[in-house]
This record gives sequence, C-alpha cells and structure tokens, in this order.
Amino acid sequence: MKTTIIILIVLAVVAFGAYFIFSNNNSYQAPKNTIQTAAELQPSAVSDIAVSIKGFAFSPLNLSVKVGTKVTWTNNDSAPHTVTSDSGTLLNSPTLSPGQSYSVTFTTPGTVNYHCTIHPMMRGTVTVTN
Ligand code: CO
Repeated sequence: MKTTIIILIVLAVVAFGAYFIFSNNNSYQAPKNTIQTAAELQPSAVSDIAVSIKGFAFSPLNLSVKVGTKVTWTNNDSAPHTVTSDSGTLLNSPTLSPGQSYSVTFTTPGTVNYHCTIHPMMRGTVTVTN
C-alpha cells in the first residue's frame, strides 16, 4: 500500500514536470510566431516602374502609378532622346544617349504630359494617384 502511494506521487510529479516543460515550450514558441507574422505584414515598397524609349516612342505610352512610385526611363534606341514635361520642370532629363536612364519619383497626384525635345512628336503621359 505504501509503495503504491509512493509510485502514484512519483507519477504525479513526473506528469506535472512534463506538463510544465510542455507548456513552457508552447509559450516560448508564441513570441517567435508573432515576430514572423509581423515581418510578413510589413508593407511592401511601392514597385518601381520602367519605361522603355524605343523606336522613337515611349513604352508604355500612358502610365498610371501610385504616389511614391519611382519611374525610370531608359533609352533603348539608337538615337538620343529627352524626357521633358510639357509644362513645369517635374520631368526635365538631360539628353539621354543610347543606354542612359533617367528616374523620377512621383510624390504628387496628377497628370503629367511629357515629350522628347529632340523629337516633339514623341509624347507620353504619367497619371499619378493616391
Ligand atoms: Co526623341
């Protein structure tokens, strides 16, 4: 009888110990999961957009972007070109030789019409929205 009681007490202590370790492991993993979830929920950066200048044309011709987007024009043509606002100076690239790029980050909503000063028939539009 005494032996049975001792065995039961030992089993109870072992079971309690096992439960304590198990629940400790669980509470240790919880913060890890929280950190991973927070990382996954971090807002991603606004995607950058590329515009190709080729065949004496801007491609895409008409572009819609969100505020904060960086647009990069790259001259993939054999001739020099510019990226120049019809009015104002938001887009005001130097003459881009073949292979050269020009980037602008759009911070204000609105529509920007632009052209190439060397070939005024080359035209494009960027529409910026919130
Ligand atoms: Co041009």
